[in-house]
Amino acid sequence: MEPLTRRQVLQIGALGGLGVVVGGTGLARVGAPWTPRRTAPGSVAGSAGQELVEPEVLRSTDGRLRVRLVAQEQDVVVAGRRARVLAYNGSVPGQTWRVGPGDRIDVRLENRLETPTNLHTHGLHVSPQGSSDNALLSIGPGETFDYTFELPRDHPTGVFWYHPHRHGYVADQVFAGMYGAMVVEDDDVDVARERVLVVSDISLTPDGAVRGITPQERMAGREGDLVLVNGQVRPEISARPGEQERWRVVNACTSRYLRLALPGQQLRLLGIDSGHEAAPREVDDVVLAPGNRADLLVAMSPGTGELRTLGYDRGEAMMGMMSGQDLSGPRTLATVTVTGAAADAARPGDPVRPARQDAEPDLRPSRVDAHREITFTMGGMGGMGGMGGMGGMAFGFDDRAFDPERIDQRVVTDSVEEWTIRNPTPMNHPFHLHVWPMQLTAVNGTTLTDPTWRDVVDVPAGGHVVVRIRFATFPGTTVYHCHILDHEDVGMMGIVAAAN
Ligand code: C2O
Ligand code: CU
Ligand code: CU
Repeated sequence: MEPLTRRQVLQIGALGGLGVVVGGTGLARVGAPWTPRRTAPGSVAGSAGQELVEPEVLRSTDGRLRVRLVAQEQDVVVAGRRARVLAYNGSVPGQTWRVGPGDRIDVRLENRLETPTNLHTHGLHVSPQGSSDNALLSIGPGETFDYTFELPRDHPTGVFWYHPHRHGYVADQVFAGMYGAMVVEDDDVDVARERVLVVSDISLTPDGAVRGITPQERMAGREGDLVLVNGQVRPEISARPGEQERWRVVNACTSRYLRLALPGQQLRLLGIDSGHEAAPREVDDVVLAPGNRADLLVAMSPGTGELRTLGYDRGEAMMGMMSGQDLSGPRTLATVTVTGAAADAARPGDPVRPARQDAEPDLRPSRVDAHREITFTMGGMGGMGGMGGMGGMAFGFDDRAFDPERIDQRVVTDSVEEWTIRNPTPMNHPFHLHVWPMQLTAVNGTTLTDPTWRDVVDVPAGGHVVVRIRFATFPGTTVYHCHILDHEDVGMMGIVAAAN
C-alpha cells in the first residue's frame, strides 16, 4: 500500500488518458481458453428470461462484519455467457453487505489484479483517513490491505455500494465487473420480499473479453452494449398479485444514467441515496445518475410488464461528435410477471413507513459558514481542445486536472458550507462528494421545497446547482469528482481537506 502520488497520476495520463489509441485501455485481450469453473453463489447469471438471481448476502453479527474481498480477473458467467471479467470474490456483482448503524466492517482486500486498486464505500459517512474510506490509497498488484469502516450510531440508513477508487483505473475496473451493494438496515417495512437490484453495463467481445474503448467513448463516458441487472440480461422477476416488494436499486453503470419506470405497477419512492422521503411517494419514474441508489416499494398487480429505463438526455461530449451514439437511451432491464393466487399477507396501499435514520436535519435554516463555487471544465471551450493533443489532462474542475498532492478546498470540521456547482460544458456531469452527504437546495435557479439529500447530484449541461454540506464528524482528506468514471479517471476530481 502506498499513497497516490503526482508521479503516478502523470503516468496514468500517458497510459489511460485521452491520447490512447482505440482499444488501448489494456482491458481488451484475447480470452483465455474456457475452463468451466465453480463460481460463488449468485454469480451464475442467466440469459434473458431467466429468474432474477440476487448476489449472496453477508450480514453483520454482533455489530461486526468481516469480509475477505478478492479482486481478480477470472471467468464468470455474465449476461448468460462466460466472460473474462474483473470480479470481487468471483461474482458480478459482488456480495451484498448488510449492516446496521453503529456496525464495524473489516475488509481484507486482496489485489490479484495486474493493476493497482483500492476500495471505496460509496455514500457511507465514515472516516476518510488511514485504513478507512481512503480514496487516495493505492494497493498494488499482489498486495493485501486491511480496511476498517466504523459506522457512527446515527449513520443514515439506506442502500450504498462499494467499488474500486484507484485514480486512473476506476472506470476500467468498475466497467469490467467490480461493484457490490451495501444496505444499512432500518426497521424493516412489512413487505413480501426485499430485492437488491444492481444495475450495471458492460461490453463483451465475441470471445468474452471486456471490450476496450475508444477515446470518443472515454470522453463521452463509456456505456456498455449490455445493461445488466445483478449480472443478468433481462431477467425475470415474478410475484403474486397483492404482494408488496421493497427494491434496493444501485446504478453501478460507469457512465449511464437511468430513468427507471415500471408501467402498470405502483412504484413508491422511499428514498434516494441517504435521503428519505417524508412518506412513501408515488412516482412514475426515478432518475438515477451514475452512483445514485433508490429505495422503492412496488405494489404488484396482475399482468406482465417491463422494468425499463426510459432514456435520459445527458447531453453531448462535444458538439455533434457523439451524435450516432444513443447515450443513456431507453432499454428494458427486466420483465416482471405477476400471476397466481392473490397474496393476502401484504396489503398494497397500507401506510408503510420504516423507522429511518436521516442524513441530517434540514440545513436551510442553518448559518452558512462559507460559500464556494466549483466549475466543471472540459478543456478548450467549444469542445475539442484538440482530441489528438490534449495530453489527457484537460478534464477537471476550475481549469485544473486532479493532482493528488494539491488540496483544492480546505473546510472546517462541523462547519456548514454552501457550494454552487457550475457546469458550462455541453454534457451533464454527476457531482459526487465522499463522506458528507449534500443537501440539494436549487437546480438552475429553481429552489427545491423538500429537504433533498444526495451523495451524487446531477449538474445539467449549461446549468448549475446549489448544495449545502455540513462537514460533520470526520476530519481528513478526501475527494469530490464527476461520477462518469471515465471523466474522474482523466482528471475530473478534486481534493477536499477537513480540519478543525
Ligand atoms: Cu462511487 Cu468516489 O465514488
Ligand atoms: Cu463515493
Ligand atoms: Cu463528467
